[in-house]
Amino acid sequence: MTTDLGMMPFGRYAHIVGWGKALPDRVVTNHELEQVVDTSDEWIRSRTGIQQRRIAVDPGETTATLAARAAREALEVADIPVSKVDMIIVSTSSPEHTFPATACIVQDLLGAVNAGAFDLSAACSGFVYGLGVAKGLIASGQAENVLVIGAETLSRITDWSDRNTCVLFGDGAGAVLVQSSPVPGGILSTEMGCDGSGGDLLILPAGGSKMPATLETVASGQHFIKMNGRAVFRFATRIMAEATRKVLDKAGLTVDDVDLVIPHQANERIIAVSMRNLKLPEEKVFRNLQYYGNTSTASIPIALCEAIEQDRIKQNDTIVMVGFGAGLTWAGTAIKWGVPTEKEVSFWRASQRSASYGLSRARSQLLRLSHHLGSNLVTEEGDSLPQVLAKRLEEWRKLLESEEPLEEAEEARPETDELHQQNASTEEKTPE
Ligand code: UT7
Repeated sequence: MTTDLGMMPFGRYAHIVGWGKALPDRVVTNHELEQVVDTSDEWIRSRTGIQQRRIAVDPGETTATLAARAAREALEVADIPVSKVDMIIVSTSSPEHTFPATACIVQDLLGAVNAGAFDLSAACSGFVYGLGVAKGLIASGQAENVLVIGAETLSRITDWSDRNTCVLFGDGAGAVLVQSSPVPGGILSTEMGCDGSGGDLLILPAGGSKMPATLETVASGQHFIKMNGRAVFRFATRIMAEATRKVLDKAGLTVDDVDLVIPHQANERIIAVSMRNLKLPEEKVFRNLQYYGNTSTASIPIALCEAIEQDRIKQNDTIVMVGFGAGLTWAGTAIKWGVPTEKEVSFWRASQRSASYGLSRARSQLLRLSHHLGSNLVTEEGDSLPQVLAKRLEEWRKLLESEEPLEEAEEARPETDELHQQNASTEEKTPE
């Protein structure tokens, strides 16, 4: 599928206005893996570029909790209350369950009362697919604010006795808030592709409806990632350059216009070959896989956050994000970065958000209780007592969101800063 909505209908452009990441604390070095499988730091570094990865060792740290942490950070940066989020897209290959969607768990963790939520399954390409979907929702007027999250706990589906795969992957999450704006720019073009004939090259064989869990599937390790590394490598080196050229072409740009490429962080050699094919100089390519390994769909948004932290992205820069993965899938996007990357979150705003999340958690607990209560404890309106209390908490939360300290209300609201100021001036100029 291809979308070429650089010229958005109705003057609706999709800008990334918030970003965040979440990584487990536990660092696992290559040397530690030498104790687990027959491998060496030298082999892993020279064949992949990876030096260490993060692993979620605490069972309470899950794909959804990492996703929610990254999303909160993105909302903080965007300075958007969670009640304004219309859609939550969680791209993941390590969902908490087949259903409900991990996105629904994230919706509950965030207290995103006005959001729809669904999971997107396109493996490592999923985050960029998600940006394409977010852009479509915004262009068609169906959404104003879309959270796109890439989150994984691949360590939970990794065979720690298989040296072909266990040295590669890591856990983590990255999120962006994509917002509608009349200001030209933002996500200019997207490319989303698939070659299903390569599905068996990278697969989690069991646990779905084709091969349900049995004692045999567990005993034979069919619930772990299986990969034909060489075949995926060949595919990746070809498709990364191809997808980059396509998105640039659709956006009316060339490789020379690009300020930074953020490729999927799978293997240093894949990145190097692809970028050489594109004749892109080293300084225009972002890498952080040495620290996190391959976090699948989370790798691009985590890298985006770090590129911003390292001052590698500035307002009006042209960015390309490009990835590949199981499916086989691939995806790319060209973005005209629309907002300043220096963001300051005030103490008041941070406290306000934290109180709001506290109320959301309490509300969620009350709603859980109400789902399990019989129907004999209801008011005339049909609400149970916990539902009545939950509604009251939601009212308090809305009140809290509308509160502004005097000195801040007087200042220009930092809400997505200049983009919003530009929005205002564009709106003034737009004829009725
Ligand atoms: O997000 C998408 C996910 N997947 C990928 O991106 C994977 C793409 N593929 C790759 O990155 C590379 O193919 C790998 C890193 C997986 C493997 O690198 P390679 O250079 O293609 O190695 P290879 O599979 O050709 O294996 C070379 C040798 C083999 O030994 P023999 O048959 O030559 O004796 C492997 O058994 O290296 C051996 N080997 C290892 N040795 C030490 C494989 N894994 C290891 C290991 N430590 N961890």
